[in-house]
Amino acid sequence: MNMKGGVGKTTVTMHLAGILGRWKAFGSKPLRVLAIDYDPQFNLSQALLPPKEYFSLEKQNKTVLSVLVDDESDLDPFKIQVPGNLNPPKIGDLVTSIYKGGKNGGGLDLIASTLDLMYVALGEANLNVKPIEERFAKFIEEARSLYDIILIDCHPAGSIFTQTSLRHSDHVVIPVVPQRYSVRGIGLMLEFIGAKSVGKQPATPHILFNNVPRIGISSEEATIRADRKFTAHCMSNSLKKFKAFTEPEAGRNFVWSSGKPYSTEALGNLLRVSRELVTRIGG
Ligand SMILES: Nc1ncnc2c1ncn2[C@@H]1O[C@H](COP(=O)(O)OP(=O)(O)O)[C@@H](O)[C@H]1O
Ligand SMILES: [Mg+2]
Repeated sequence: MNMKGGVGKTTVTMHLAGILGRWKAFGSKPLRVLAIDYDPQFNLSQALLPPKEYFSLEKQNKTVLSVLVDDESDLDPFKIQVPGNLNPPKIGDLVTSIYKGGKNGGGLDLIASTLDLMYVALGEANLNVKPIEERFAKFIEEARSLYDIILIDCHPAGSIFTQTSLRHSDHVVIPVVPQRYSVRGIGLMLEFIGAKSVGKQPATPHILFNNVPRIGISSEEATIRADRKFTAHCMSNSLKKFKAFTEPEAGRNFVWSSGKPYSTEALGNLLRVSRELVTRIGG
């Protein structure tokens, strides 16, 4: 999560989800991973699914929208009502398999997103959000029983989507492209995390510098790392700028199958970041 767009939220989600579900690189087994596309822009869905498969899922309402409201809900942003049904569909009815675990287990499942989520976002002001929160809570509870790790790709705004994800997350990865104004974005995120977790332990933030030069460290990054408010939250490994992390499409162009230059270096970089994150979250 980051309130800024274009900082690599989707790129990081896709590659972490992919590598954790596939790589036997962490002294144990690959993990059972669930990736949730919780952004109406559905970039993660497009990155992982061929268009035909995506549109077929959307037509069957197999998207994160069905977690929040029933299919038959009237999707008028000014009238959206969540009727009596406080139970979301079963996870098995919503997920699509991106990668089935091999003999060592693991695997990657996706819950796709849809532009129709915008109806919920637009209607939010007039909305009774309680049923949505309750459905999301039950849905995450089931997901926790089925998967080792759940990654939620959020959209860049403070909305019911970011609120529900935060409330049910143990950790928040905050991708940050070090630039002059990124400090403010990080401050905002840390405040948002604190404010949205009333009555429970706040999620632990992990600042991941992304898209940074392969060599050296920018003065902006150094300043943020040295800031007492942020130091403890900064991951020591950064994700560097590599072509091999770009243009994911339809489940292809993962860094380990990329033919782009420096793919091996990019994979090494991703592995270091993933290992550090797994250690930080106590896995
Ligand atoms: N480490 C990286 N190296 C090279 N390009 C990157 C990297 N991280 C992100 N990008 C590129 O930056 C753009 C924005 O990334 P994206 O993941 O879509 O951001 P967000 O989800 O935060 O809006 C994309 O074109 C993506 O390919
Ligand atoms: Mg995105």
